[in-house]
Amino acid sequence: MKIITRSYQETINLGKQIGLLLNKGSLITLKGDLAGGKTTFTKGIGEALNIKQVINSPTFTILKIYNGSLPLYHIDAYRLAENPYDLGFDEYYDDGIMVVEWPEYYEALPEEHLDIEFNYIDDTSREINITATKEYEDILKEIEKIC
Ligand SMILES: Nc1ncnc2c1ncn2[C@@H]1O[C@H](COP(=O)(O)OP(=O)(O)OP(=O)(O)O)[C@@H](O)[C@H]1O
Ligand SMILES: [Mg+2]
Repeated sequence: MKIITRSYQETINLGKQIGLLLNKGSLITLKGDLAGGKTTFTKGIGEALNIKQVINSPTFTILKIYNGSLPLYHIDAYRLAENPYDLGFDEYYDDGIMVVEWPEYYEALPEEHLDIEFNYIDDTSREINITATKEYEDILKEIEKIC
């Protein structure tokens, strides 16, 4: 499905609404343009999980873990671009929610995931496309109901 957000805050709100639908072990991949809104969306997931720390871009650390009602594992694989490889993180996130920015650069992610792609329209608007693999079809249906 396709959604247009017309401000930074609308993308946070979308992340929060979707975050409320996620479960332990959920994997969300965030694709698309630089400054597309991937980290902004993750801040909204953080709100849904009642995370009090500020979520920012983990580009220089690859993985950040935030503690909320569930742990949030936030990966930014951008730095792996030159040499994609499997860091093995996916082996221990089943107690929380894993969000991966630039999944193209991270090898060996599990097959099942919710994919969200961000396309820049203009300074304040983004087109957001959401697709689901089989196990995430129910969550996608829920998203369709609320958006
Ligand atoms: N509708 C919108 N949704 C999200 N961000 C927006 C929107 N309009 C403007 N912005 C701005 O775009 C930028 C999005 O930055 P953000 O760090 O979320 O992108 P990103 O996709 O994580 O980038 P990167 O690929 O560098 O990690 C912010 O500066 C934000 O204020
Ligand atoms: Mg980012």
